[in-house]
Amino acid sequence: MEISFCQSFVQVVCILVHLLSSQAFTSQHIAGHREELASDILVLPFLNCGTFRERILEANLWWSSGGTRSLLHRDADNAINCLLNGTKDWVLVDPSYEDLIPIAKENVDAYGGFSLLNPDSVNLERFPSFQQVPWWYANMSAGDCLFLPYGYWHQVRSHGSKNLAVSVLFSRLQEVDLKECDEAAPEFIALSKSQMVFHYDGFGDQTMGNTDPFELKDMLLEVCQENGAVRQLELHQMMLAGYNELDGLDIQPADRDVEINKEIIEQLMAVLDQSNSGEVSCDVIKSLTLDTLTVLADVIDHDPANTESYEYARYDASDIKNALPVISLPRGSPNIIIANLPFAKWRQVLCALKYM
Ligand SMILES: *[C@@H]1O[C@H](CO)[C@@H](O)[C@H](O)[C@H]1NC(C)=O
Ligand SMILES: *[C@@H]1O[C@H](CO)[C@@H](O)[C@H](O)[C@H]1NC(C)=O
Repeated sequence: MEISFCQSFVQVVCILVHLLSSQAFTSQHIAGHREELASDILVLPFLNCGTFRERILEANLWWSSGGTRSLLHRDADNAINCLLNGTKDWVLVDPSYEDLIPIAKENVDAYGGFSLLNPDSVNLERFPSFQQVPWWYANMSAGDCLFLPYGYWHQVRSHGSKNLAVSVLFSRLQEVDLKECDEAAPEFIALSKSQMVFHYDGFGDQTMGNTDPFELKDMLLEVCQENGAVRQLELHQMMLAGYNELDGLDIQPADRDVEINKEIIEQLMAVLDQSNSGEVSCDVIKSLTLDTLTVLADVIDHDPANTESYEYARYDASDIKNALPVISLPRGSPNIIIANLPFAKWRQVLCALKYM
C-alpha cells in the first residue's frame, strides 16, 4: 500500500513538474494501473453499457496553471471532458464549416488537426473566410462535463489560477447496441473498474492518441476480403489510402514517409504473420485479439510526441527523493510537503531534477 501510494504520488509530481516548467497545458494518461488516481475518477453512466462500454480508448488528465490557451483544433476520438476544479472556456465550431478554417497541413493523423489562427488575435485580413464561421461558447465550471464529438473544432482557454479536468476518450462509432442499457440502468463506475484500451503504467513510451484498434481491425478485414489475404503489398496500399484520404489528392508520400512506412509494414507483418509465409489469412485477421490489435495500433501510430526524448519527462521516485533534500524541505509525509510547496520552491525542485 505504502509503495503504490508513493508511486502514484510520484506520477502526480511528474505532471506537476511538467506543468510548472512549461506554464501551459499538460495532459497525461491516467494510468490504469495507478489505481489510486483512476479510482477517484467516475466514468459517466452512459459509457458503462452497450457498445460504449467496450469502446473506451483512453483517459487523460488535463491540468492548467491558469492563463493558458490552446489552438483551434480537432481531435480524432469522441471525448467526455469533466472539469474537477476551476473554470474552462471553450469555443466550439461545427465541422461543417471546416472549409472556412485555415488548417495546418499535417500528414500524421487524418482525423486530428489544428488551425493556423492565433487564438489571441485572429488575422482576418489573411484569413477572411473565417469571418463567416459561426461559433459557440461552452463555459465550464467545476462539476460540468462536456461531450466533444470527434472532429469537432475547439479552442480552450483557462482563466483563474488553475484547473483540473479528466477527459475520457471513446471510439468513433457508426452504430451502437444499447439494449443492455435499457435493461439495467447504468451507473457511475470508477475509471479503474472500466475496461479501457490504452493504459499507461508510468514507464516507457506513451500511447496517447493512438489509432483505434477496433477501427484498425475493420480496415485490415476490408483489405483482406478485397484481396484474399493480407501481404506487405496490401498493407502498403492501406497506408497509402490513409495518406491520400487525408490530403484528398492522389499524391505519393515523400521519400522519408515511404521509408518509415516500409519499416512499419515490416513490423506489422512480424506480428501478424506468425508462420512467416508472407501472407495472413482473413481468418487470422478475424481472430485478432484486442491485445494484439493494440500492439499493432502502437506500431502504426508510434508518435514521437509520445516518447520521452520529445515531449515529456519521467522521474523515478528515487529522483524526487534525492531532489527534495537539495532544497532542505522538512521531513514528513511527502504529499503534505508538496501540497504546501510555494511556487518558487517548485522551480527549485524542477531545476534540481533537471540537472541531476
Ligand atoms: C478548487 O481548488 C481549491 C484549492 O485548491 C479549492 O479551494 C476549491 O474549493 C476547489 N474547487 C472545487 C469546486 O473543487
Ligand atoms: C464565457 O467565456 C468567454 C471567454 O472567456 C467570456 O468572454 C464570456 O464572458 C464567458 N461567458 C460567461 C457567461 O461567463
